[in-house]
Amino acid sequence: MNRAVILASRPAGIAQAENFAIVESDSKPLAEGQIRIRNEYLSVEPAMRGWIADVGNYSEPVAIGSVMRALAVGQVIESRTGDYQQGEWLIGWFGWQDEAVVDPATIVRRIIEKDLPRSLALGILGINGVTAHLALTKIGKPEPGDTVLVSTASGAVGSAVGQIAKVLGCTTIGITGGPEKVAQCIERFGYDDAVDYKAAGLEDAIAAACPNGVNVYFDNVAGQISDAVYPQLALNARVVICGTASFPTWDPWPIGPRVERHLLVKRARMEGFVIFDHMANYESSVARLADWVRSGQLQYAEDILDGMEACPDALAGLYRGENKGKRIIKL
Ligand SMILES: NC(=O)c1ccc[n+]([C@@H]2O[C@H](COP(=O)([O-])OP(=O)(O)OC[C@H]3O[C@@H](n4cnc5c(N)ncnc54)[C@H](OP(=O)(O)O)[C@@H]3O)[C@@H](O)[C@H]2O)c1
Repeated sequence: MNRAVILASRPAGIAQAENFAIVESDSKPLAEGQIRIRNEYLSVEPAMRGWIADVGNYSEPVAIGSVMRALAVGQVIESRTGDYQQGEWLIGWFGWQDEAVVDPATIVRRIIEKDLPRSLALGILGINGVTAHLALTKIGKPEPGDTVLVSTASGAVGSAVGQIAKVLGCTTIGITGGPEKVAQCIERFGYDDAVDYKAAGLEDAIAAACPNGVNVYFDNVAGQISDAVYPQLALNARVVICGTASFPTWDPWPIGPRVERHLLVKRARMEGFVIFDHMANYESSVARLADWVRSGQLQYAEDILDGMEACPDALAGLYRGENKGKRIIKL
């Protein structure tokens, strides 16, 4: 039998546990050209909210009743293709389930870093780390001495952005929720300073932490937190739009203060980034990130939940800010 988490209903706003269901079915037979994977780790991404919504996203919504779309780390247990052999460890779009019968097109890459934990392929050596690295360097274009400000600074993407910016010679400032995460930013991820957006006076706190202005704002949240950042942009600032985690809903479409005047006066640039446009650079980015992990320049934190039963509430938990690192389910 195969256990899987399916999307049971389409959420309004952030998906809650009741929007998912765990179902059992017979294992599928393997057709020519397919591979059977046994999943070991399942990823939980804030972006899943977009993948199951039917408005304003960059991919087709997951259909009601189908297995929840997810990246996973798994081992080939049966193969009817010459390209992948039994026993190989892969990361790919294998879904929230025990076992996946897939075409090779769903595979993202082989896990070749045998000296590092396999779970990292979903975090610092996965789309979180690669997004941090490529979005920061391609859009943020940090120069040594720049001030780089990062929202969701202690999370999977944000913690990597802060540390990579530090490696590149920047001053790094984090924005995160609560004193514990502020301490994690400074003590574990080496930020020069961090501010708590849940405390009063966010705009003043950002101004105090960035006395020369913000050269690169790596934004994962949008909304009111970003509204407090824009007045602090430095001349020729770059704003990387990577996520919109603070928007409670996209229907009605969120409205707020206008950014155009800040961009005009500061001759600043704002650009969106979606990792799936950059897969050609994925392998080389993972190699660079793995070297930084091995040398100790890149620290990571994982938030590992146990068993498939944890899946339905895991996404809502990210939006409650419960995770202290990359959220993963271990089967
Ligand atoms: N564009 C891309 O290609 C791409 C790829 C990967 C990820 N992302 C984006 O990167 C961001 C971070 O993803 P991640 O996987 O690294 O997750 P993460 O930061 O490990 O976890 C999500 C964090 O978001 C913060 N958060 C949740 N609700 C919030 C709210 N209402 N206001 C402010 N902060 C809130 C929480 O941190 P606090 O406790 O600090 O609030 C929570 O821990 C997300 O926006 C995600 O969609 C984009």
